[in-house]
This record gives sequence, structure tokens and C-alpha cells, in this order.
Amino acid sequence: MRPVLELKSLVGGYGDTQILKGVSMQVSLGEIVVIIGPNGAGKSTSLKSVFGLLTLTGGQVLLEGQDITNTPPEKCVRRGISFVPQTENIFPSMSVNENLEMGAFVRKDDFSGRLAEIYDMFPPLKGKRHVPAGTLSGGQRQMVAMGKALMLQPKVLLLDEPTAGLSPKYRGEIFEIVQRINATGTPILLVEQNAKQALRIATRAYVLVDGRNKHEGTGSDLLANPEVAHMFLGAGKPAGELAHG
Ligand SMILES: Nc1ncnc2c1ncn2[C@@H]1O[C@H](COP(=O)(O)OP(=O)(O)OP(=O)(O)O)[C@@H](O)[C@H]1O
Ligand SMILES: [Mg+2]
Repeated sequence: MRPVLELKSLVGGYGDTQILKGVSMQVSLGEIVVIIGPNGAGKSTSLKSVFGLLTLTGGQVLLEGQDITNTPPEKCVRRGISFVPQTENIFPSMSVNENLEMGAFVRKDDFSGRLAEIYDMFPPLKGKRHVPAGTLSGGQRQMVAMGKALMLQPKVLLLDEPTAGLSPKYRGEIFEIVQRINATGTPILLVEQNAKQALRIATRAYVLVDGRNKHEGTGSDLLANPEVAHMFLGAGKPAGELAHG
């Protein structure tokens, strides 16, 4: 099957600092593709580079086979890519409903049906339509961010650590929602620190280390890989690592 999204040997970084040194991955229809790796490996940078938030100096990004390398964010949105960054992914002073409407800003048609679908996808938001999004719990804010990203029915959804800082209960809920979104036909590229849980829901996964692909396989392959287990699947990570954006 032709991939929906393809990252081919991406090279790039910030200023003179090269972060991505040849990152390659693919996301096909129906897939949840997970990226794990140590802090600073270039996971967020990989997502940002797809979304035109930094300039790639090498490699190619393909969407449905078309070259979209270094396409600016607003054009990426119009072409069907949605990106939920780890932080600052909602407008805190705007209501939940206004946030979702902002997600539809490039739509000229009537999106009321889609809005209703989003509330059905995130039931805890139903009673909070007119509440400022910034006053919600962390898990609910994450739902607003994802709902906003889904308003345009993207061809692919990029999620950067949606469970960071959440309680185990909310973490589980977010992983379930990711699976549900995927089941409605949206392929997902998901960066996660909670490697074990993420690999359990992954169709396939990549381990990035120092800006390069290190391992790849199905979620269960990587769960069973001793080197991956040693790196990521231990009793837990030092608390300090989780705070890092
Ligand atoms: N805007 C920026 N300007 C300069 N350097 C940056 C910028 N953003 C990230 N970096 C650096 O790029 C490297 C990769 O960062 P990136 O955020 O992609 O890592 P990550 O794999 O997502 O890590 P984490 O698990 O901590 O989120 C790090 O060394 C980081 O300090
Ligand atoms: Mg990151």
C-alpha cells in the first residue's frame, strides 16, 4: 500500500545545529505509527519538520506521493495534515467550542456536523462547551487540542506526547481515544514517552536515537526486542525526564 505520509532521509535542525541526520519513516492508511526515543533524539523535530516548522536541508516529505518538503504550516493544514504540539496546543482564554471552531478556520462549508462528531468522540467536553479551555484538567485540554486538530478531517494526524504529565487514568483514556480516532479512518503518527503503552497500540513503531532511525518494527516486535526493552521499557524513567518538552 502506498504510504499516506513518507519521511525520506530527513536532514535538518535549528540554525547551524543539525538534529535530524537521516530520519525515515512511513505512515499508511489504517496505521498508528509510534516514535519513541531518548530525550533530545529529534522526535518532536521530526514532526515539526513534516509540518514546515523548520527548514529541511536534505531529504523529502511526501504526502500521498506528492513532495511537500518545507511546505509552511498553513499550507500543510490545507493539504490535510494536522499537528498537535506537546505544549501550547489550545487557546486557553477561549471557550472549548471556540477552540474547536478555530480548528475549522480554513473550512468555508458548514462544519456543524463535524463539530457534533467531535463532541461525540470526546464526551467529557460536552458539558464544557462554553468554559474557557484553560480551566479544564490536563486530560480534557488534550482532548480539546485533538478535537481542534480533527475538525478538518485530516489525511494524517501528528501527535506529540499527548499523555505527557497526565495521571494514569487520563493516560489510558487518551490512548483509547487515539485508537478510536484511528478506527474512524485517520492514520496517526504519535510521539510518546510512555513507550510500553504506546507500543501496545502501535501498528508499527520507530526508535529514534540521535537524529537517526535505530530500530523499527511492529509494536509487538519492539516490545519483545531486548535492546528496546532495556532502553525504554524498564520500571520507569527518572522523573526529571518527563518534565522536558
Ligand atoms: N527551537 C529550537 N532551537 C534550537 N534547538 C532546539 C529547538 N528545539 C529543540 N532543539 C534541540 O534539538 C534537539 C532535539 O530536540 P527534540 O525536541 O526534537 O527532541 P525530542 O526527541 O522530542 O526530545 P524530548 O523527549 O525531550 O521531547 C535537542 O537537543 C533540543 O535541545
Ligand atoms: Mg519532544
